[in-house]
Amino acid sequence: MELCVALDLPSEAENLALAESLKNYNIWMKVGFRAYIRDGKSFIEALKAINPDFKIFLDLKLYDIPHTMADAAEEITKLGIDMFNIHASAGSVAMKTVMERLDSYKNRPLVLAVTALTSFDEAGFQRVYEKSINEKAEQFAKMSYENGLDGVVCSTFESRAIKNATSKQFLTLCPGIRPFGEDAGDQQRVATLELAAKEGVDYPVVGRPIYKDAAPQAKVEKILKVISTF
Ligand code: C5P
Repeated sequence: MELCVALDLPSEAENLALAESLKNYNIWMKVGFRAYIRDGKSFIEALKAINPDFKIFLDLKLYDIPHTMADAAEEITKLGIDMFNIHASAGSVAMKTVMERLDSYKNRPLVLAVTALTSFDEAGFQRVYEKSINEKAEQFAKMSYENGLDGVVCSTFESRAIKNATSKQFLTLCPGIRPFGEDAGDQQRVATLELAAKEGVDYPVVGRPIYKDAAPQAKVEKILKVISTF
């Protein structure tokens, strides 16, 4: 299990200060819409300058026609990041087109597909997808696996079933982690680290419980210590 910290602070300076305070840890940094739209490529370079071994997950959730997605995926790959994601609902042709385009890159980033956003509750999800979260997440995961993706973004509660339906090696990255039962905020399906470990989660994503903590570095240290016991 590898910790992924969401850099969702209001300014680049605050995100970089958080990264600086965490530079001695072997962790993933999640760069999402807010940071990437505002601070772009130079933000990624600044993170790498703080610690060249930080792994970077660019969470832009691509969703468009296949060709446009593949173009974007190629540009993302050229940024030198380590993982990015697309929406599974873009479909299997989009998945295949993206993976084929990245085929020629030796060190291509890991590619994950978003199944069900962790902010959905069951009723809200069904209004959009007309299926239960479990059923749809598993279906999306199978489609992603069959089209050569490396894993999916899902909630902890679907991780086990997804691995059973695909492969143990098929990666699950799970937001909505409240390491020690902290406030859920707008997340509907939250899980502790212990539960995430039990469900085989590969990458727990933690945002607010770290950056809203009075002592983020100590919090990360505590999380890593717990992870090392699993
Ligand atoms: O603050 P919190 O720990 O809830 O942050 C979770 C992070 O994971 C946020 O950056 C959010 O955008 C992202 N995310 C999510 N659900 C998904 C995909 C990404 O919460 N399905």
